Amino acid sequence: MMDMKTDPRFRGLEPFANRVWLSSPTMHGDEQRFVDDAIATNWVSTVGRNIDEAEKAIAEIIGVQYAVGLSAGTAALHLATKLAGERLYGRAKPYEGTLAGHRVFCSDMTFDASVNPVAYEDGEAVFIDTERDTWNMDPDALEEAFRRYPEVKLIVLAHLYGTPGKMDEIRKIADAHGALIIEDAAESLGAKYRLKGRWVETGAIGDYNCISFNGNKIITGSSGGMFLTDSKEDADKVRKWSTQSREPAPWYQHEEIGYNYRMSNLIAGVVRGQIPFLNAHIEQKKAIYERYKAGLKDLPVTMNPFDAQKSIPNYWLSCMLIDESAMARHSRGELDEKWTRTKGKTCPGEILAALTAFRAEGRPLWKPMHMQPIYRNHAFVSGVDVGEDLFRRGLCLPSDNKMTREEQDIIIEIIHRCFR
Ligand SMILES: Cc1ncc(COP(=O)(O)O)c(C=O)c1O
Repeated sequence: MMDMKTDPRFRGLEPFANRVWLSSPTMHGDEQRFVDDAIATNWVSTVGRNIDEAEKAIAEIIGVQYAVGLSAGTAALHLATKLAGERLYGRAKPYEGTLAGHRVFCSDMTFDASVNPVAYEDGEAVFIDTERDTWNMDPDALEEAFRRYPEVKLIVLAHLYGTPGKMDEIRKIADAHGALIIEDAAESLGAKYRLKGRWVETGAIGDYNCISFNGNKIITGSSGGMFLTDSKEDADKVRKWSTQSREPAPWYQHEEIGYNYRMSNLIAGVVRGQIPFLNAHIEQKKAIYERYKAGLKDLPVTMNPFDAQKSIPNYWLSCMLIDESAMARHSRGELDEKWTRTKGKTCPGEILAALTAFRAEGRPLWKPMHMQPIYRNHAFVSGVDVGEDLFRRGLCLPSDNKMTREEQDIIIEIIHRCFR
């Protein structure tokens, strides 16, 4: 493997004095005030003003009736999956998941936290390939999946990197088959989609909706997530399950399995302080995306695409896809990769290695679920395996909203030099 610092292509470039991150938390000050207030008033557990206010503000922004603060987006997805399982197949025995014996159609190109809750509930994920227009679940592949497995009643889908998927088509298909949708909007908080002529927020489109405040997200609580719904019954259920499923008795009485998934009032203080900056963060991320697009336009690459008529992304991560004709020869094993230096060509591994050498953080695209060892024996419904192709040729670029223009210019220069 080549040492990027001594590679003549990179002569004259110095590593960044301060590391440039992929997407790191950006605090503004009010977070501290709300956390301090929780400590000063002794409300540091899973009840308190910060939770109430953060839930209220998020419900308002997304346009849903109820938001339930949880310890993580993954917790929200788990309880959403369990709610869907109970509605579809009834309450399960304590030792069994609600999806036992049932298949669920899932986004293939996503973080595994989207789909693991299907396994937590004993369901079998069937992965649906990705389309090239938004890098999300392909409606054609979804149609095909319903032809193969007409009994399926649940779809789990994510909006990749903050770009909404083809929700009008997917909703139509779901409705035609009487299937429910779990919307994983962990990466897309603040992104909008034009559904039936009306702009709606991602996180308000599914039958069950989830967002994340993980440290790398567009706004963060350091951790945390929320379940979003218009159903009071579902909101109450998630609140109850997330606090150990206590019944309203004087003692600890349990009729259902419980979880310790509720958001703490300290975390909610950080979330509460971040909420007013959601739009500012989106603007910063959009500017980053547009600067990459302009700065890379002379190279044989494209940016992560979106449908400008039907969607407004939150631009959480800027990503890049190398044209097939400009791909250097390379191979990936399970845990490592190799490439051959080729004039005029490069590959994601080489660009990521160059960025790392200059102290900037990029990342390969999500490795599709059907390629993951844990899920490799699951069904995958696809035409030409778009997910594998995107994973092979794509990468996430440093997209931190604190990155300066000058730093981004240098990153763009490093990428150019990889093609020399
Ligand atoms: C698509 C997607 N789903 C779910 C999650 C899980 O969220 P959390 O880390 O808050 O559990 C993440 C990110 O972490 C994600 O990117």
